[in-house]
Amino acid sequence: MKQKKAKGTGVHRGWVIGGVLVMLFVLACTSPAGLAESKDLDTQVRKLLDSTYWRDMNVPEVDGQTLHDIILEKGYTRALEIGTSTGHSGIWIAWALSKTGGRLTTIDIDRRRHQEALKNFETAGLSHLIDARLDDAHELVPTLEGPFDFVFSDADKGWYRNYLDALLPKLVVGGCYTTHNVSMPGRGRGWNEEYTRYLLSLPNLKTTIDSRGGGMSISYKVTE
Ligand SMILES: C[S@@+](CC[C@H](N)C(=O)[O-])C[C@H]1O[C@@H](n2cnc3c(N)ncnc32)[C@H](O)[C@@H]1O
Repeated sequence: MKQKKAKGTGVHRGWVIGGVLVMLFVLACTSPAGLAESKDLDTQVRKLLDSTYWRDMNVPEVDGQTLHDIILEKGYTRALEIGTSTGHSGIWIAWALSKTGGRLTTIDIDRRRHQEALKNFETAGLSHLIDARLDDAHELVPTLEGPFDFVFSDADKGWYRNYLDALLPKLVVGGCYTTHNVSMPGRGRGWNEEYTRYLLSLPNLKTTIDSRGGGMSISYKVTE
């Protein structure tokens, strides 16, 4: 009997300590200093987004907002982007990750755009969350370790399927794989329809096409 009581008390104490730790964490996150910090970051990011003329094949704002909202809603933390350009979509993605506690790896092969993206990430106050690689994604992507819970594919369209095939095993179940500049076969703008058909045929993905901006597939991995 004595032993049973001691065990019960231990479990109870564990719950109390756990509860106190959670409360401390919540307090730290919502403390005036924490709130002011995240408000400052929001202002900094917003300022850069609004003051920059995004002209390097960057996603339209509506798509950036969608990427941001998906990450925030699902609480994703391990993101990969293929095709950084000057960093427009990367900023939307990393902005969301600043709220979920995540990190972004992003790849581009073009030195000038990569350098400009680095400056933009710095100005936005997000560079500490971003690992920006100057590399050929054809070679780099298959070597990335993963796992990822969010992928945005926006580089060379002819390689879309190869990127997907390499990354799908590294995407967690429940994760999301998005691709830019696609349209629903037979219905949209005729963008990368063969790829979209392939995407829609995969039984472990639940895919929808968002055609409001540049055309974006949003695929959730439902099973291994
Ligand atoms: C459409 S832009 C990306 C736009 C970016 N996502 C944004 O919204 O700011 C495509 C980018 O993919 C890059 N790219 C093309 N082929 C690549 C490759 N093999 N490896 C890495 N990057 C590549 C290009 O240099 C270009 O900057």
